[in-house]
Amino acid sequence: MLVEKNVPLQPYNTFRIVARAQTLIRVKDEADVQAVVADATLAAAPKFVLGGGSNIVLTGDVKPVVLKVEILGRRLVEETAKAWIVEAGGGENWHDVVAWTLAQGWPGLENMALIPGTVGAAPVQNIGAYGVELQDRFESLDAIDLQTGRTFTLDAAQCGFAYRDSVFKHAPTPADPASGRPAGLGLAGRALITRVRLRLPKPWKPELGYLDLQRRLAESGVREPTARQIYDWVCEIRRAKLPDPAVIGNAGSFFKNPTVTPEQCADIIARDPGIVHYQLADGTVKLAAGWLIDACGWKGKSIGQAGVYEKQALVLVNRGGGDNGATGGEVMTLAKAIQTSVYERFGIRLEPEPVVV
Ligand code: EPU
Repeated sequence: MLVEKNVPLQPYNTFRIVARAQTLIRVKDEADVQAVVADATLAAAPKFVLGGGSNIVLTGDVKPVVLKVEILGRRLVEETAKAWIVEAGGGENWHDVVAWTLAQGWPGLENMALIPGTVGAAPVQNIGAYGVELQDRFESLDAIDLQTGRTFTLDAAQCGFAYRDSVFKHAPTPADPASGRPAGLGLAGRALITRVRLRLPKPWKPELGYLDLQRRLAESGVREPTARQIYDWVCEIRRAKLPDPAVIGNAGSFFKNPTVTPEQCADIIARDPGIVHYQLADGTVKLAAGWLIDACGWKGKSIGQAGVYEKQALVLVNRGGGDNGATGGEVMTLAKAIQTSVYERFGIRLEPEPVVV
């Protein structure tokens, strides 16, 4: 185990924010974590698990010990009549794994092509795009307890998946005897995801419900698209709408799409008939946060070097490069100003999607 000190984190976060880790350890296998647990000083210190850095905002130097997951490996675990089960190391690049499964003839991940980040980070926020979420293709994961060094396995129910959320995004909460609230199982800073297994169901069925994909399908004139075609369409749609983090620093969608009651929605429609909304199965209504932000006039605006992307108001970007880029503080000031104006106009509180460190 190599303990690195004062490590620049700019290359390791897709917002390209300048910050340093006081202490950084590259985790290449379980033994690296066990070495951390065996070291009295490191064992006692708070930990921050870093994947591809594509869903974080760094607001200063990181004091907890940064564990950068670099566990590699991909394999077919088993093929049954009902599914292919594939496994990938937490440090593998998500998109590369998607492309690899397709190349091997195991379709099912094509709608989630080009999502930035690592395999180990995918369950943390239950990544999703174009009608498919990680939880729809999830089998199980292995994680390692950062206090004991023991490895354990979680199934989907134990991961507590919800829209852009899981047990890995929450700190544990103690039980509150006064209100009777039980202790909350939070694993943020408590566990490191080493391996993820994905279930790709057979027979493969295309997932074309999302409006952008339906449009592509109609344009193409294709009756029965292959997984490869859907993959190509998703890549094209994303490249046209979302900034490439290799060119413009960003963390994807900065806010979650809020849900409201049908009454709240009717109220907003009465004032703003154009609002983009989707009926959910549970009776609530999901609103497009990008539309709300756009309607408040934020598209293309900036505070300092932090800006709102011209082609998609839901994405905040770093307009600067190198050492002169946006600070985490500027990004959060912009985010708060957006939240305030959306609240004042629509009465809706937008919730950030990335983890603010
Ligand atoms: N819209 C506007 N103005 C904007 C942006 C969007 O009017 O500036 C409207 C669009 O016209 C569209 C609607 O809002 O009718 C929704 O926009 P879009 O289809 O682009 O999807 P989204 O809700 O903005 C979500 C996910 C993305 C995911 C896409 C595709 C969230 C927070 N975001 O975006 O996920 O790729 O759907 O499935 O759920 C991410 O999480 O980082 C991310 C990129």
